[in-house]
Amino acid sequence: MYNMRASTAEAPVLDRMDSLKPNELIKDDPMNNISPAIVERVGRSLHTMPNHPLSIIKQKIETYFTERSKKQNGAEFMIFDDLSPKVKITANFDDLLIPPDHVSRSASDTYYIDDETMLRGHTSAHQASLLKNGHDSFLCTGDVYRRDEIDASHYPVFHQMEGVRVFPEKAPPEGSEKIQGNKEVEADLKDALEGMVDAVFGPVEKRWVDAYFPFTEPSFELEIYYNDKWLEVLGCGVMQQDILRRAGRGEQPGWAFGLGLERLAMVLFNIPDIRLFWSQDERFTGQFKDGEITEFKPFSKYPAATRDVSFWLDPAKSFHQNDLCEVVRGKAGDLVEKVELVDEFTHPKTNRTSNMFRIVYCSLDKTFTSDEVNVIHDGVREELVANFNVELRI
Ligand code: DAH
Repeated sequence: MYNMRASTAEAPVLDRMDSLKPNELIKDDPMNNISPAIVERVGRSLHTMPNHPLSIIKQKIETYFTERSKKQNGAEFMIFDDLSPKVKITANFDDLLIPPDHVSRSASDTYYIDDETMLRGHTSAHQASLLKNGHDSFLCTGDVYRRDEIDASHYPVFHQMEGVRVFPEKAPPEGSEKIQGNKEVEADLKDALEGMVDAVFGPVEKRWVDAYFPFTEPSFELEIYYNDKWLEVLGCGVMQQDILRRAGRGEQPGWAFGLGLERLAMVLFNIPDIRLFWSQDERFTGQFKDGEITEFKPFSKYPAATRDVSFWLDPAKSFHQNDLCEVVRGKAGDLVEKVELVDEFTHPKTNRTSNMFRIVYCSLDKTFTSDEVNVIHDGVREELVANFNVELRI
């Protein structure tokens, strides 16, 4: 009874990347907050590009899991890397037991298409549909989208890998007491991930840190000691049984993990700026080879230009730093290196709030003139006035 699989009747269709039409992501809907700069990134699929650092790491992890299950005579891990990033809001949040008031749902954090769909904010969004399709063990990699700050390690699109293993044979007999947090499952999770980290980084010192995720209990983060620092590598845990029940798996226990590929690649290849992953400059793309982790050789860094903008906010309009980041991305593309709030105060008499931001413009692959920067920066200022009704000070 408990070992039954989800009936095929309720298995949702797995939408593939090629069913997505990027030009339909921006539409006239009050929820829609997707910009052309984001649409341009959809479909680039860096994680499947040959000789790209992200795909090199992805392949190493996939090979590790394939070999581990062969050694254990266990279920093979199915590999998914072309699922559409357009997902149901319920798949991204509700199916994972993320509460209705969770911050990650806010429009300043998430890219919404309309009141039913969004660009996935994590690859965990595919857990439920893959389980309902009968997959017990899988690795699912893809581009994920989050409205975020701008600096060397944050970019509104990045890549994650999700791993899930369900143990149908370990479902407790009907009528027995149900306990969340199966110890054998936890032990397999930890063994699998410690081995994975050694396969990718070489033998390293590790530590498990207790964590909290709505979708797992217990939850952990795995940290490794690498380049003289503790580095957080991934989040994971024993899956909440309710997620498995809702996916038609009854009391079958399972584990899950999620990791960010850029974060690992920046450390492994010594890549200093997250924008570089998107570079189509041969001096970047020509450096890497499938199967090999090699030290990134920097090419000349062009001078940066810093511009400040300061303004009074309109108390009647909502404004978030991520809104400014979106405007700057729209005008400057990958020319923007960093956006930083350097001053904020509220006038004691008028009660108006002033923000000052410092924007660092710097190209990764070409030089540009001060006049060109000024044109971009003026464009940012104009759009702030037009969209957020701010009153410019500087
Ligand atoms: N989805 C989480 C994130 O984006 C990462 C994660 C943590 C995935 C724990 C998991 C997990 O599957 O069990 O931050």
